[in-house]
Order: sequence, then C-alpha cells, then structure tokens
Amino acid sequence: MNEHRRLRNAFGQFGTGVVIITITSPQGNTLGLTVNSFSSVSLDPPLVSWCLANNSDMMARFAEAERFCVNILSAEQEDLSNAMAQPGTHELAPSHIETSATGDKRIIGALAHLDCRIHERIMAGDHVIYMGYVEGADCAETPVAPLLYFRGAYAGLA
Ligand SMILES: Cc1cc2nc3c(=O)[nH]c(=O)nc-3n(C[C@H](O)[C@H](O)[C@H](O)COP(=O)(O)O)c2cc1C
Repeated sequence: MNEHRRLRNAFGQFGTGVVIITITSPQGNTLGLTVNSFSSVSLDPPLVSWCLANNSDMMARFAEAERFCVNILSAEQEDLSNAMAQPGTHELAPSHIETSATGDKRIIGALAHLDCRIHERIMAGDHVIYMGYVEGADCAETPVAPLLYFRGAYAGLA
C-alpha cells in the first residue's frame, strides 16, 4: 500500500457528519458543496471551519463569496449529499431552499443551519481552510438522525 492510500485510510477512520456548504452566486443562484471536513472551532467568538480542496471547480466561486451557510445533513438527505458532490454546476433547486434572517440560503430539512460571514481563508497544503463567524444558528425542532460518513462510505448510528 502506498503512503497516500495509507494516510487516506487513517484519516477515514475518523467518523464525521456530512454538511453541504451553500453560497449565493452573483447571479442569485444557490450553489452547494458536500463536505465532511466541517468542525466547530470556538464558542466565543462563534467560529467554525471547513476545508476546500485546491483542485475543486468551486474554488473561484468560494473565492468571490463573502458568506456561506453550513447545512448539517439528516440521514434522509443522502441523495442531496451525492448530488452536491458531483463536479458540475453545484446548483440547488429552489424547492430545497429557504432564506434565513441574515439572507443566507438554507437547505430545508437539515438538522441545523449556521449562517456565517467569512472570517478568514488560510492556505493549508492542498486545501484552503475557510473560517466562518456564525451570525445565525438554528436546529431542527424534532430529533432527526444525522447523515454520517466513515471509512469512505455513508454510515448509520450503531
Ligand atoms: C462525504 C463527502 C465529503 C467530502 N468532503 C469534502 C471536503 O471536506 N472538502 C472538499 O473540498 N471536498 C469534499 N468532498 C468532495 C466534494 O464534495 C466534490 O465531490 C468535489 O469537490 C468534486 O466537485 P468539484 O470539483 O466541482 O468541487 C466530499 C465529498 C463527499 C461525498
């Protein structure tokens, strides 16, 4: 096994949730990218982070963005997760979207939403770390199972 594969496998042992990061394009469309590198960072000030691959087609779109929304996916949103992980337009249909008080585009049915102003972009190897300052947060009112990712595949709660 080569070193790259060994490292990927080791990273993949860390089970995570799955989020879609949404932004609004200059034309007003809602774009989404599936990500599992999301992490909460700080409560005071309220900061979160996630990482964008340098070779992503979405690099230019995120470079021009000033805000993003983190949508924490439910187990029922696997299809949407797959759709927003395909190279291409990354456009979300209006039927999936609602607008928050901060004007950010949120995915309906997500477990939680975090409306963020981009606080910092940090170059880090083959990714850019996006730090967001959370300006709005909400949670699903009824408990819903999360979408999980483990060893390179979706997983359920044991
Ligand atoms: C579960 C899952 C987690 C992912 N996490 C990340 C991530 O943290 N950062 C990232 O840049 N891409 C991540 N990706 C890949 C992107 O969603 C997308 O597939 C990839 O960037 C190719 O599309 P693009 O070139 O249009 O960006 C993930 C994909 C999946 C399915």
